[in-house]
Formats: sequence, structure tokens, C-alpha cells
Amino acid sequence: MYKLFRRFLFLLPAEASHDLALFSLSMANKIGLLNLIKTKNINTPATVMGIEFPNKVGLAAGLDKNGKHIHALSKFGFGFVEIGTVTPLAQPGNPKPRLFRIPKARAIINRMGFNNHGIDNLIQNVNLAKDAGFDGVLGINIGKNLDTSVDDAVNDYLIGLRQAYFYADYITVNISSPNTPGLRSLQYGEELDSLLSMIKAEQMSLSLEFKKYVPIAIKVAPDLSDDEVKGVAESLLANNMDALIATNTTLDKKVVEDLTHGDEPGGLSGEPVRDMSTRVIAEFHKYLKDQIPIIGVGGIASAADAKAKLDAGAALVQVYSGLIYEGPGLVKQILKVIN
Ligand SMILES: Cc1cc2nc3c(=O)[nH]c(=O)nc-3n(C[C@H](O)[C@H](O)[C@H](O)COP(=O)(O)O)c2cc1C
Repeated sequence: MYKLFRRFLFLLPAEASHDLALFSLSMANKIGLLNLIKTKNINTPATVMGIEFPNKVGLAAGLDKNGKHIHALSKFGFGFVEIGTVTPLAQPGNPKPRLFRIPKARAIINRMGFNNHGIDNLIQNVNLAKDAGFDGVLGINIGKNLDTSVDDAVNDYLIGLRQAYFYADYITVNISSPNTPGLRSLQYGEELDSLLSMIKAEQMSLSLEFKKYVPIAIKVAPDLSDDEVKGVAESLLANNMDALIATNTTLDKKVVEDLTHGDEPGGLSGEPVRDMSTRVIAEFHKYLKDQIPIIGVGGIASAADAKAKLDAGAALVQVYSGLIYEGPGLVKQILKVIN
């Protein structure tokens, strides 16, 4: 069924088909069609970051940037849904076209640039999803506005943290999008240490104010050398972070450069990032061991791909590009095999 729908969707420009798919999904949910999907019986719960997840497979950030489709997406059987990246203020993102499929490599290049309606709108959507009956685990992924300089980025993260704190089960600090100039520089050395220590201090004060502890995950790029992984891991440990999300998209596009759209600027996801991200997870796991859990993401398009991430040390996994190519049945397919 999805294969037929995909054939139609792939005739449209990538972003138009993406919007249409999400719109159709919400409509299908409204008329009760998604209730026909049965995944509850194959859930295997896992406790990570102190949260009980119904299962280990989540939706990665970026598909539902404004949190408008949380309830519908959760019906695919995800153990958790991560929305965003959201910035303090609404912003349009980069000019279109900015999303490209590369079917021959089962890959996607995007340079969306954090297009979103701002955090106030996202919170309204979270409330609507909860009113509509969503009671699953929700991650809110926060970033900085394009107009905020990298030197002032921490202010945007602190705004995001404060606004999202009450509504999120966990919050992801995204410092690895390749489409916001300079953002990835926050992954290194003193800049990272200072960012994480300020985030930790704010988390502690919010936990007293709201009388609830909301864990914070840091999302990194797959383009880190072994030395850089070690540096990030030391900083995460020193600042008592709650989780790592590895990884975002890659800037290494050698394997697709000869394919249509393979030379588009932006981050590459899907199959080409799969092994890079698994390597980074394994490398991080050497340092983080059981102290800081890892959420593994990058190129998962089968149960075997998910299992490889878990075997490399991930406690949970997320999918994005694999859903575009394999369809929503991918979640169930993975859940049948992993435990
Ligand atoms: C179109 C698109 C938009 C994305 N937007 C975001 C985003 O806003 N924030 C984020 O943290 N990651 C974003 N990502 C990265 C994904 O969450 C994921 O980390 C990455 O694509 C690797 O996983 P995959 O190969 O399963 O897609 C985006 C990915 C794609 C393809």
C-alpha cells in the first residue's frame, strides 16, 4: 500500500510530497483510520534517562518541526516522538527548493535551515495533541534562530529550555545542524563546556521551580573524528548530561556526488550515513559506557540496521529517512525483531 502511495508522492517535488504526506496522515487520524494500526502487542518497554519508553523506536527530529502531527505520527507505533527543531522565534528557513531525494542511494539531502513557527506555536500544538489523547513520550528539540549570533546561541537555548520544560519528557539541544552557519562549532572545546554548564545550571533551577526533572540530550554530527568524540564525551560527563543523540546528517557527500541532486548543499541522511553514525555511536560508547545513554539515529531502514545501532551501544533508536523510503510499516518491522 505504501509503495503505491510512495510512487505517487515521489512524482512531486520532495517538500510538497512531504507536506502532502503529513496532511494526509492527520486527515486519516481525524477520521479514525490510524486506529487500525496495531502495534501495542509488540512493544518492549525500556527505561532510559529515568523515562519509561513503551518501546525503543522513536521518530527523529525534523519531520514534525512544529509539533502539528504528534498524535497522528504516534499511531505508527513509535515508543517516542521528537518534535522540532524549534527556535525561540518563527523563521522561514532557507529558500526552496531545499529538500532533495536521491532514490538511487536511498538518501535525502536537506538544507531546510530550521524553518518553524516558533516555540509558542509549538507549545500550543503540544497542548492540542495532549487534548486529542496523545499520552506518549515526547521529546522537544531546540535550536537557535538564524539571526542570533553563535556567540549568543546560549540565550536561545535557554529560552527554548524554559519554554519547553513543562511540556517535554526530554529536551534535545541540537548543536549539529549543518544548515545554520557556525552551529556545529558549539560541539568543540570551551564553547561546548560553557554551553553545557549553563544549560545544566538552568535545568537544575527549572527542576526546582517545576518540581520535576526533565532530562537533556545533546545531538551531535556524524562528522566527528575519534579525538573530537573523546572531547565531546568528556564534556558530557563533566556536565552531567542525561543523553547523547548520535547522529544528525553528514556533510560528507562523496558517495552521492555523481547522482542526481548529489551535489546539492546541505546535510545528507539515509543509507549513506548509516555506518558513519554507527561508528560514532560505538566510539562514544567506549567513553560513556552505562553512564550516559545513547540514542542512535542515522540510516536505519530495517530491523538489522536498528539492531546494529543497539549492538554498538545505543539504548534507543530513531528513524527519519528510512520512513520516507520504507513507509510507516518500518516501525513495526523493527519492533518485531529487536527487544
Ligand atoms: C528533511 C530533514 C530535516 C531534518 N531536520 C532536523 C531538525 O530540524 N533537527 C534535527 O535535530 N535533526 C533534523 N534532521 C536530522 C534527522 O533527525 C536525523 O538525525 C538524520 O536525518 C539521520 O537519520 P536518518 O538517516 O534516519 O534520516 C533532519 C533530517 C531530514 C532528512
